[in-house]
Amino acid sequence: MSTHPSQIAVVAAAPDRLPVTLPRLAEMKRLGEPIVMVTAYDFPSARAAESAGVDMVLVGDSGAMTVLGYPSTVAVELDELLVLAKAVRRGLRTPFLVGDMTFGSYEISDEQAIRNALRFVKEAGCDAVKLEGGGPSSVSRARAIIGAGIPVMGHVGLTPQTATALGGYRAQGRSADAAARVAAAALALQDAGCFSIVFEAIPSEVAAELMTRIEVPVIGIGAGPATDGQVLVFHDLLGIREGLGARFVKRYASLQDEMVAGVAAFADDVRTHRYPEPRHGYAIDREQLSAFRDRLA
Ligand code: KIV
Repeated sequence: MSTHPSQIAVVAAAPDRLPVTLPRLAEMKRLGEPIVMVTAYDFPSARAAESAGVDMVLVGDSGAMTVLGYPSTVAVELDELLVLAKAVRRGLRTPFLVGDMTFGSYEISDEQAIRNALRFVKEAGCDAVKLEGGGPSSVSRARAIIGAGIPVMGHVGLTPQTATALGGYRAQGRSADAAARVAAAALALQDAGCFSIVFEAIPSEVAAELMTRIEVPVIGIGAGPATDGQVLVFHDLLGIREGLGARFVKRYASLQDEMVAGVAAFADDVRTHRYPEPRHGYAIDREQLSAFRDRLA
């Protein structure tokens, strides 16, 4: 039986919690303490992540769809994600904050990748950046950014920015050859110095095999229970969306339904003159009102 959110919210919020650091994340892996990561895109979602005591927050390029309304992550610009990242930074104190390099912000050259990774750190106060893919150019970019002093999180398996090239939004690594490609990508990113790697939408058993070879914390999303931690998209886990989402999503609330119900109730109150009530208004002294009326006359 799963725990209802209201039963754990207060327990998780710890005002004296220390900021999560790279050594702490490595220690969590070593001790087998599950690492909790969520995405966030604005001040309220960051405050929720902070109060819930999560370990890592990702300003994911999934924000392209969840909050900016794009059909995929391809079109979103770095400048747009930086606005979101700055708002998230203002709402966070303790979780380790990762900014997602947008499609087109790191593919051209190592120099471009360093320049844009620096923006996440200098302008938005991120602790690290994430980039997708483990082919030669992504590995080169990761190495270059790490060389510039910025921690990098890798991302293998389903990499949504290049979903078209992968044949669509589908699980990866489902044949021996495909699993070997995921393994090669993950190992190359680890060799390049990534502090952590996301495994997205790969078979649980492939992830479990890979865990014996990966020494840095691995955060899974649709990669089964063997990874060091789990990440879900904020809007997926809280049901702030239409439709159910991917197979790996577990929904802990249905906030979209609650939002619609709330706005509909407001609309109904306005249309039936039940809002505003006297208690929602401001009073004026009788004499002041009378003087005001005289002036209008
Ligand atoms: O953008 C995102 O939300 C992500 C996570 C799914 C890892 O990359």
